[in-house]
Parts: sequence; structure tokens; C-alpha cells
Amino acid sequence: MKYYVSTPIYYVNAKPHLGHAYTTIVNDVLTRFHRLLGYDSYLLTGTDEHGDKIVRAAEREGRNPQQYADEISALFKAAWPKLNIETNDFIRTTEERHKKVVSAFMELVYKRGDIYFGEYGGHYCFGCERFYTEKELQDGLCPDHQTKPEYISEKNYFFRMSNYQDWLIDYIKANPTFIRPERYKNEVLGFLRDPLEDLCITRPKSRLTWGIDVPFDEGFVTYVWFDALINYISALGWPDGELYQKYWPVAQHTIAKDILKPHAIFWPTMLQSAGLPLYKHLNVHGYWQIGFSKMSKSIGNVVEALAMADRYGNDPFRYFLMREMNFGLDSEFSEDRLVDRYNSDLANDLGNLWQRALAMLQKFSHSQVPILALKGLGQSDDAEWARRFENLVTEYSKHFEEVNPRAALTAVWEFVGLLNKTIDSEAPWALAKDPSKAERLSTVMARLVKGLALLGALVWPVMPATGAEMWRRLGLDPAQITIDNDRILTMLSHGREIKAGSAFFPRIETTETKTRGKNQADKTKTDAESAEGTKTKALACCTEAAGLDEAPKDGVQTIETITIDDFKRLELRVGKVLAAEALPKSLKLIKLTVSLGDSERTVVAGIGRHYQPEDLVGRFIVVIANLAPAKLMGVESKGMVLCATQRDSDGGERLTLLTVASEIAPGSKIS
Ligand code: MSP
Repeated sequence: MKYYVSTPIYYVNAKPHLGHAYTTIVNDVLTRFHRLLGYDSYLLTGTDEHGDKIVRAAEREGRNPQQYADEISALFKAAWPKLNIETNDFIRTTEERHKKVVSAFMELVYKRGDIYFGEYGGHYCFGCERFYTEKELQDGLCPDHQTKPEYISEKNYFFRMSNYQDWLIDYIKANPTFIRPERYKNEVLGFLRDPLEDLCITRPKSRLTWGIDVPFDEGFVTYVWFDALINYISALGWPDGELYQKYWPVAQHTIAKDILKPHAIFWPTMLQSAGLPLYKHLNVHGYWQIGFSKMSKSIGNVVEALAMADRYGNDPFRYFLMREMNFGLDSEFSEDRLVDRYNSDLANDLGNLWQRALAMLQKFSHSQVPILALKGLGQSDDAEWARRFENLVTEYSKHFEEVNPRAALTAVWEFVGLLNKTIDSEAPWALAKDPSKAERLSTVMARLVKGLALLGALVWPVMPATGAEMWRRLGLDPAQITIDNDRILTMLSHGREIKAGSAFFPRIETTETKTRGKNQADKTKTDAESAEGTKTKALACCTEAAGLDEAPKDGVQTIETITIDDFKRLELRVGKVLAAEALPKSLKLIKLTVSLGDSERTVVAGIGRHYQPEDLVGRFIVVIANLAPAKLMGVESKGMVLCATQRDSDGGERLTLLTVASEIAPGSKIS
């Protein structure tokens, strides 16, 4: 079983940032997942170093292109191991091994008669390194860079891409997961409804010398995209390399939506012309955005990926990226969200489970894996648990195969919840007090050990250091990590010593979490001694839409019904905002003074990232007037304002305040 996946090769005109890190981490996660299943896996990354863009960037920095490319490429190469990403190769397009393959490939396409010499005039964007047609420009500007392209007319070589249009449409239709998720397949079929133009694949040396020589005309260099796409096979040593024979038949590429067209149209037609098999899947994700705009160096809001990982740890950073982004859609990055996810999913759910379970295993199983109970699988509910373990592995694997890390993690976290619940319902501390329940106690302990071992393996692709440490705590060897339940059971049955160690994810205390997270902080310590095992969840902050935190699974949302009497218990009123001010030290919270007609009150709302305080004054909003008061950042909030939250649709997260359609007396009841 083989697995081969590649990242785009990144341009060396910018340092590695969050966007690059995300694609590379996704690929590392997918590669590790396949390793868990026993695949022989290969991950390729590298840098794209030719073209105008690089020449210009080098000039700005006072370097020649090669020196400049060497420096930036080294930054990319050094960045990945720091994020615990294990790559098998790092290809640079300025390497001889690559140049050789580009020449041979081009020669082949030329011999097939798919390259001709012609003249072309068009609007050229230097940022994109491509010509735009009149129709593609927006108000005469490049749709991506919003700059005016230069009109260039010159003689060049062209690849007869148009010859392959019908073939490509048929191929995409016949192979529905060739481009995935589906929305991008549809987007490509959409492009292909218009006639496909031939691709200009050279640049005259009179204009650009920083490129790979065209083998059949020394007056030209190769167009950077034609050169770059070939990296996916040059790194494998095409045409005779052993790696090429081994991995190309299973190749997958992961990219973001910005470079869909070259990967979904140029590359397959190039491969078809050269007589090579196509890659198997193109996995396309959306953009990370900050403040709802595209992240880019030019607009100055680049998040230093490594700085975030340094601040919160590699594993939490990787977890956040995988859990937060719905693969294929855009996501909004924010440090606050990262901290929220850390505290709720890692500290509260996963970390808490391990701390409780290890403490109980120490106390009730004398720090040993309860071997006898492991072997005695006939216990009444063990068959049901064995089925649960198997189903979980099947569901998790299916999501990863379909490149949906978020759904895989959601399934794992449901299992974390289940284990936490089983501790609560079985109450091992009570079983331990009754000698007649000794067998039940050891069954419960055995179930926990098996669950923890499986969990360690399931989180390992996303959080490699944590997964490995979890296995060490159970006396297992991380080098043997697997999600095969039978193998896990055999390993555990050899008798292992359990080590407690320090907490996995100590809570991050911020001013906000201090206010709202006190309940959880009190929780983790004493389950082994205590008789109440109820687990507390993070309290939702004021207007945060707690119930909308997860996208509905498979498009189906289960909604719990309530009675009209339940609804009547809510005192919903129209409020008029009289004053609004941001709370110091909080990015989110705004203090509102709201008139309810006969009274005024203070309501603190978590809408600071979506509204300026001054825009709120005078608005007629909807307030829950009978909500128990809560203190937020030291301010007592009496009530809550209602908002609609749209998450993870194409625009990341959007929050909009509920207002009434026409002015009505403040205090009016809403029913
Ligand atoms: N050199 C070309 C790719 C050639 S591949 C044969 C290129 N390089 S790039 O440096 O601009 O990298 C683009 C890729 O970086 C995206 O496709 C994506 O993988 C990643 N990202 C850059 N910014 C991103 C976001 N804001 N969000 C998510 N990923 C992004 O294009």
C-alpha cells in the first residue's frame, strides 16, 4: 500500500506564513494517518524559484535571484521540522535534477506536435505571472492583485491546451473525486464551459532570463508554471526513477483554491500530451483569512505561523488548524479562537479525561494495565464497546481518506465525550468502595485503558508529540503506534506499567477565560477521590453562539424541540442602545447601555470584532431580559443581545446583530 502527496512548491518571494504552514501540515497529517494504517507514505514539498516575481523581489532586496532564492528557500526548509512536519524530499526548481526533467518533458510535448510558435498580445499581470483576457479583468484590473496589468505583445511558444478541452471535461465527469471537494470540480467544469485558449509556455530571454532554457530554442526560457508543475514528477526521478514507478500511480496534490486552474487544467493536459498517467486526486482547500480579508504580505496582516506555534505549542496549533477549517471553505484565523479551542477541546475534554483516567488507574489498578479484565472480554457490555471502537476507527478513516480532518477530529472528540461520560456513570470511586464490585471495576478500568490507547493513536497524526507521549504513559512503544484494535489489545495484554506524569494541556488563563472558566479549573483534580463525576463544559461567553459551534454533520442538523411554555420562559424585549464602549483589554467585549423603556441596564456583548461601538448607538436590538446576571471582565451584564452567526461558509465567520424592522417603543415584548 502506497501513498504520495505533495504541497504546492512555494514561491520564494515571501517568508513562510500561516497559509503555507496549513497546507504543509494537512499533508503531514494525511501522511501520518496513512502510516498509522501501515502505508508506505511519501510527502513532497519544495520551492518555486523562477520567473519575474522572484527577479523583482531579489532586486528589491539587493540580491541576485539565486542568492535570494537560496536564502528564502532555506527558511521554508527549516520551517517544516519546527512544526513537526516530516517531509521525504524538498525540491527546488533551480536544482539540476529538476531542470533536466523539465527539458525532457518539454521536448516530449514538442515532439508530439503540441507546441507551436506564435504571436500573442495580452494583459500581463506580473504578480500572477500570467496573461489575462479582457473578459477576466475586473474594471481593467487584475482580479487577484487589483493592479493594472501591462499590455504585452510578443512572439512565444504555445502549448495546444485547447486540443484537450473535451477530453478533460469527459475525464473529470468520469472521475468524480479527481478534483475534490465537489465545489472545486464544479468550478473547473465551469471554466471549461468557455473555450480553452492555448497556453503561452515561454518568455523571450530579451525580457526574462531567470528560467529554465527551452530545449529547442535558445532564445527563450520556460514559463514558470510549466516549469513548476513538473516538480511533482522531477522529484520522483521521472521517467525511470524507482520513486516515480512506486509513487506516481497513487499521486495526490493538495493546494488552496488560488492555484486551482494550473493544477486542474494545465497540469492534466500537460500530462496527457506527454503520455503520462494523471495524478489521482487534487485536494483543494480554502483560504485562511484575517479580519475577513485574504491574508497576504501586501496587506500586512500575515500571521507568523511559527510565532503562534511557539506561543501555544506545536500540537495545539496543528490541532486548531485541522479542527477549525472546514476543508474546502475559507476560515477566519484568530488567536482568541485558538485559545478557546485549546481550553475547551484540549484542556477541558481531552486533557481532563487523561488526568482523571490516569489518576484512577494509578489508584484502582495499582498503576498496572488490568490484564485479567482485558482478557476476559465476555463481560456483558464489552461486545458493544468493541463495536464502538471499530466503528470509530472506520468513521475516522473514512473522513481522512476523503480529506476531511475536521470531521475525523469531531468523531474522535465524540469518543472523548463518551469516555468522560462512562467515568461519570460507572463511578469507579464508588465501585472501589464495594468489594463485591471488584470485577466490574477492573472491566471499567480495562475499557478505559483500551480507549486511551486508541485515542493516543487517533490524535497522533494531528498531534504527534501528544499521541506518542500518551502511548508512553500507558507503557506502549510509540514506534508501534497503530489504530488496529486487535494489535492494541495484544500490546496491552503483555502487562504494562502506567505512568501518570504532568497534565497534558494545562488551561491557558486569559483575562476572559479567568472570568468564565473557573468551574473547569476546579474540576480536574479530584475525581479519583470524589463521588461526583459530573464534567463541566466551558460556559459560553455572552453572545457566542454555543450551539452553532459545529457545522452540521453531513448537512443534517438535529434540532431538539421545546414546548411553547419553554419558549415563554424567555423574556425577549426590544432594547434601544443608548451608549456603547469597548471594554479595555478585550478584543471582543462591548459594554452597552440599553433602554428597555421603563429602565436602563448594562449588557456586555461579545461583538467587538464585528462592530465598532459608535455604530451601535441608536439601534433597536433584541435583548433577553431575564437572563441571570453574569460578570464579564469585571462588568456585570444583565441580559444578552441576540445575534446571528454564520460560520465557515465562504466568508469565514460573520456575526450580525438582530434588530427590529421598524422603530418601536423600547421595552416592547417580543413573542
Ligand atoms: N509557486 C506557486 C505554486 C506552484 S505549485 C506547482 C504558488 N506559490 S505560493 O507561495 O503562492 O503558495 C500558494 C499556496 O500557499 C496556496 O495554494 C496554499 O497552499 C498556500 N496558501 C497561501 N496563502 C494561503 C492562505 N491565506 N490560506 C490557506 N493557504 C494559503 O502559488
